[in-house]
Amino acid sequence: MTSPSSTAAAPSPKRRGLIAGLVTVAAITCIVLVAWVMTSTNRDPYVVATRSLDGDAQHGGLLFRINCAGCHGIAGQGLVGPSLQGVSTRLSDPQIIQQVVSGQTPPMPRFEIEPQGMADLLAHLHSFSDAE
Ligand code: HEC
Repeated sequence: MTSPSSTAAAPSPKRRGLIAGLVTVAAITCIVLVAWVMTSTNRDPYVVATRSLDGDAQHGGLLFRINCAGCHGIAGQGLVGPSLQGVSTRLSDPQIIQQVVSGQTPPMPRFEIEPQGMADLLAHLHSFSDAE
C-alpha cells in the first residue's frame, strides 16, 4: 500500500478520512438515538408510575376481556391482532406499555388507562407467559 501504483486506485487518504469520519458520526448518532429512546421510555412518568404499582391480575383479566380480547382473543391466542402468548418474554414491560398507550401500530387503538389499570393489565399479560 506504500507504492504509488497501489494507492492510485484506492480513495485518497483525505477522502478515506472523510468516509471514516462520516461512518463514525453515523455510528455515534445511532448509539445516542438508541440510548435516548430506551432511557426515555424507562423514565416516562407514566411507565415509572405503572411499574411502581402491584398489578392485580384478576382485575387485569377483566380489563383485558373488555378492551383487548376482541382482537387478541379471550385467552390472548390471537384473532385480528397477534397472539399474546409469551408476550412478556418477547417484549419488556415498558415496550408493552408503549404498545398499549401509544397507538403507533394501527389498527390497534391507543388506550388511556390509569397506571393502576395498566399495572393490572401487565400482571394479566405476564400470566400468558407463565402458562408456557
Ligand atoms: C382493534 C384491534 C386491537 C385491540 C382492541 C387491541 N389490539 Fe393489541 N394489537 C392489535 C394488532 C393488529 C397488533 C399488531 C400491531 C403491529 O405490530 O402491527 C397488536 C399488537 C399488540 C401487542 C404487541 C404484540 C407483539 O408480540 O409484538 C401487544 C402487547 C398488544 N397488542 C396488547 C394489547 C392490549 C393489552 C390490548 C387491550 C388494552 C390490545 N392490544 C387491544 C390489535 C388490537
